[in-house]
Amino acid sequence: MEKVRIAILGLGNVGTGVWKILNTNKKEIKKRSGYHIEVAKILVRDKKKPRSVEVPEDILTTDYNEILMDDSIKIVVELMGGVEPAKEYMLNAIRHNKHVVTANKFVLATHGNELLDAAYAQGVMLYYEASVAGGIPIIHGISESLTANKIVEILGIINGTTNYILTKMSQEGMEFKEALKEAQEKGYAEADPTADIEAYDAMYKLAILGSLSFGSRVHVDSIYREGITSISSVDIQYAREFGYVIKLLAIGKERNGVLELRVHPAMIPANHPLANVNDSFNAIFIKGNAVGDLMLYGRGAGDLPTGSAVVGDIISVLRNGIDDIVPVEQKDKLSNLRVQSMDYTVCEYYIRCTVLDTPGTLGDIAAIFGKNNVSLASVIQKGKTGEQVPLVFITHQTTEKNISDAIEEVKKLSTVVKVENIVRVEKI
Ligand code: NAP
Ligand code: HSE
Repeated sequence: MEKVRIAILGLGNVGTGVWKILNTNKKEIKKRSGYHIEVAKILVRDKKKPRSVEVPEDILTTDYNEILMDDSIKIVVELMGGVEPAKEYMLNAIRHNKHVVTANKFVLATHGNELLDAAYAQGVMLYYEASVAGGIPIIHGISESLTANKIVEILGIINGTTNYILTKMSQEGMEFKEALKEAQEKGYAEADPTADIEAYDAMYKLAILGSLSFGSRVHVDSIYREGITSISSVDIQYAREFGYVIKLLAIGKERNGVLELRVHPAMIPANHPLANVNDSFNAIFIKGNAVGDLMLYGRGAGDLPTGSAVVGDIISVLRNGIDDIVPVEQKDKLSNLRVQSMDYTVCEYYIRCTVLDTPGTLGDIAAIFGKNNVSLASVIQKGKTGEQVPLVFITHQTTEKNISDAIEEVKKLSTVVKVENIVRVEKI
């Protein structure tokens, strides 16, 4: 049995998971990869930091050059996060004929083409299964198993932290902050959880999925992004009354060569399979013109699920042959499809306002909606007649532009105290 030496950059949540799997499943990994994997070095910031796994002190290092200059290290596994120095470290590893495995969606979504071009030019492998949806094999699924299809739609819950928060708020009445704290303790959240709750993480993942699914370059700036911080327990309660559940959805569609790419909270029917994807679980729906509808479901975050994808990539590298390092031509050249402006997105909308409960208020608002081609499907007004009451609408399908024009006018009414929240309703 041959031995292969690898290096891991980072021993946080995911690095720890990878270390555990390499040790626990040593026998299976040897059998499947044909190699005994030796972790030669692990790069960390602080060698003295207490760790939840026992790692020999001499393999920890704070000097990347010890890894880069060691020709016996064949694979570099990047699990640090952030753009720099992760990107530079990966590029340097590629230039030194080392294969690269990474879980870093941030780098891949923003500099993926540069990294992949460098890897092709050098003839090394660059694998990134763990970058989207943790343990779910979605990257290999799209780039290998589904290549016979034209993919027309992807719809996913691809951030574990926000799904955990929304599940706890909805099922246990937990406060947002408490649920976020729990997600952080469980190792789901990014180092800066703003990336999760403001949906940057899901946006990066959609950029990667969109590019693979539609064969087009996707700039993260072209993706509409809205996080979950505006969602309150009141909205969750109303959603339930209307028969919906609120989820952070990543949506990608291709129609006649134009892409629709958006990440935002959405109300979805409570009986839809995605509505029952809870806690840190992720799920991705794919519509292919041959396979039809397909859903992949599993843990989207956490040390072992993510480690599972990382170690799977290490094994793939070993199986494909680590010594054949010759430049290869990239077969699947990406196009540059146009991304549709949000103005033309068509949805139903949930609109929650606080209004003065005076005669004519509802009529005035309804008239503005009508003038802007927004047709109402349901209205709920609660509370005793008094100064201020909540007024909640669900519209029929209309464009984003019609809704924003109508809302601008509604806000000007003297009887409208505040437009509290607007949530898209996806009829999936
Ligand atoms: P983490 O817990 O914050 O761990 C980061 C590790 O990298 C730490 O060990 C840290 O060293 C080390 N590190 C960071 N910057 C470094 C630098 N400049 N030089 C040397 N070492 C450095 O992060 P994580 O949750 O494991 O995430 C790692 C990557 O996986 C990220 O790209 C993340 O987006 C991705 N990912 C995470 C999950 C998840 O569930 N957490 C799931 C999928 C993908 P110290 O320990 O010494 O501070
Ligand atoms: N912070 C990410 C999440 C980790 O919560 O989904 C997995 O990519």
